[in-house]
Amino acid sequence: MTNTYPTIKNNDRNQISDTKLTKFSALALSDREVMLDPDGVAVRNAIVDEGALLWELARDAGGLDLNSPYAYMTQCRNFHETCVVAEVFGTPAGFVTAHRVPNRPNVLFVWQVAVLPEFRGLSIGKRMLEGLVERPVCKGVRKLETTVTPSNKASEALFSSFAKARGAELIIASGYAKDDFPDDEPQERERLFTIQPIHSVD
Ligand SMILES: CC(C)(COP(=O)(O)OP(=O)(O)OC[C@H]1O[C@@H](n2cnc3c(N)ncnc32)[C@H](O)[C@@H]1OP(=O)(O)O)[C@@H](O)C(=O)NCCC(=O)NCCS
Repeated sequence: MTNTYPTIKNNDRNQISDTKLTKFSALALSDREVMLDPDGVAVRNAIVDEGALLWELARDAGGLDLNSPYAYMTQCRNFHETCVVAEVFGTPAGFVTAHRVPNRPNVLFVWQVAVLPEFRGLSIGKRMLEGLVERPVCKGVRKLETTVTPSNKASEALFSSFAKARGAELIIASGYAKDDFPDDEPQERERLFTIQPIHSVD
């Protein structure tokens, strides 16, 4: 698939040197499975012990449920093959956490997507989703599922755009009602987004 993405401008590069998230960018090349786009954006697999990085990215991205560090550590430990990190010139800029649903292995469930504010609007979210479903580990995946709150217009736009670019249908159903959440943790309802068909690598 050939895509034209917005390019990283010089002032974006200056911001990159300011970011705190550099400690994981010196990974051995063999761990990274890097696919570097001409504008310096790479999408690589998350690695087993990167949960702390994902937690930091989620915290700094804002706009999503910040779960415990342990939750991100477990995602990386158990599902690192279906989680990806985007880097811009070697600096972590975002992540996607996902897993194949055990009793429905043709479904890839996307748990969270986050892109740091300074890197938004550069198709990094979309590139991560595309990079993920094209990975050999997603062989046989036919549907992508995720949940999106009605107020999260950026997330809705991201998944709509991803579906459209792949010529797939986006079906919206009810996911979790407000009452499904604990009384002392009131939360907006979550809609279930299903994108199909996904033509993963075969
Ligand atoms: C949602 C999020 C990951 C999008 O990341 P991003 O890298 O800026 O998204 P992209 O640049 O790939 O944009 C993909 C599409 O969505 C659109 N889009 C992105 N943000 C948008 C916004 N705030 N309003 C309207 N459209 C938006 C883009 O225009 C693009 O559409 P196009 O392909 O038709 O041009 C990012 O805004 C974010 O991290 N938000 C906070 C965390 C969050 O809410 N995560 C989702 C729930 S887990």
